[in-house]
Amino acid sequence: MRKKAISIILSAAMIAAMLAGCGSTPAQEEQQQVTEENVDTENVSEAPQEEENAKEAASTGDLPILGAGIYSSTDNFNSYLAKAIANSSDGVFQVNVDDGQLDQTTQLNQIDTALAKGAVAVCVSVVDITAAPVIVQKCKDAGDVPVIFFNKEITDKDVVASYDNLYQVTSTGGDYGAAIQGEMIVEYWKAHPEMDKNGDGKLQIINVMGDPGHTASQPRADYVESTITDAGIEIEVLERDTGMWDTAKAKEKMDAWISKYDDDIEIIICGNDAMALGVLQSIEAAGFNLDGAESERYIPIIGIDALPEMLAKIESGEVIGSVLQDAATQGKVIVKIAENVSQGKDPLDGLDFEFDTDGSKAVRVPYAAITAENVDVAAANYTE
Ligand code: GAL
Ligand code: CA
Repeated sequence: MRKKAISIILSAAMIAAMLAGCGSTPAQEEQQQVTEENVDTENVSEAPQEEENAKEAASTGDLPILGAGIYSSTDNFNSYLAKAIANSSDGVFQVNVDDGQLDQTTQLNQIDTALAKGAVAVCVSVVDITAAPVIVQKCKDAGDVPVIFFNKEITDKDVVASYDNLYQVTSTGGDYGAAIQGEMIVEYWKAHPEMDKNGDGKLQIINVMGDPGHTASQPRADYVESTITDAGIEIEVLERDTGMWDTAKAKEKMDAWISKYDDDIEIIICGNDAMALGVLQSIEAAGFNLDGAESERYIPIIGIDALPEMLAKIESGEVIGSVLQDAATQGKVIVKIAENVSQGKDPLDGLDFEFDTDGSKAVRVPYAAITAENVDVAAANYTE
């Protein structure tokens, strides 16, 4: 079972790498890739052949179009969201998950194209949250086409309230998973007295933040620290800076910090796994964590997302854990809302979720703590 899960994780990781590799190709090619991927995934499922054929025939044109886009395929977590949306759309929508390539103009053009083709709903993780009103206007102009924002939450309540057909799908608001991350650190501190390397009773931390323009960045960085201090553990923040959600950028920052602080660092907290993986590369190059938790030189690292590529690092002890952000469920909810509203049904029909009552019109999918003991919980998220 474990073996099977791991091989599925690996293929999911390869798919992510493929998607990421398409970053520089024209949008059209990217659309083709994601669609083909969708069909491939279907072929490995155990559905009877006739059902496969029927689904494939349907996917060639009779289904309504769902306009879909992520802000960048270079973002690991967004690539998994794209895959989840493509998977959940199977047999329901024709879907092209566009790559916004970190460029708002490119993404707006992609939305125009989808609407011109007759998309019955649009779902998007925006490049820049301030572009939300423009997207809303486009959807209104196209005949009140429903829009579902995901991943990058639109926090301007006036924008949210400006359109009845606007919905959001994201993860637990407020702390965006960081309270769980903080609790995991508290538990680890209690179970590992050796974590206090200098014996001063305080936790020396490096806090690697996400993109400052992203809704979850600042709250994650703040909540993880306050959760630790609320538990009565004093912290000393050695560094707190952005790695822009990105592996290479986080590695670059960490290269400087590891030569500055070396073994004085007692934990590296990362706002997401992509950055945790970059940080790990950096400290491993400096001789840390090479034998997992048994390493002579060891710095605990923790992330958020529980990406497939992170799970092997958690199992080996190179990283202490992560917080699962459930891409598969988010994808399902996005597609189901799109299906419901485009058919005039209640948006949450058939879903076991409620909208948050905070004026965000958001369905919030909960996070979960992942350590070496339960990596299979996170792995299961990528098998569907
Ligand atoms: C967060 C996720 C990050 C990154 C970011 C981009 O929810 O945890 O890994 O993907 O979204 O919008
Ligand atoms: Ca200490």
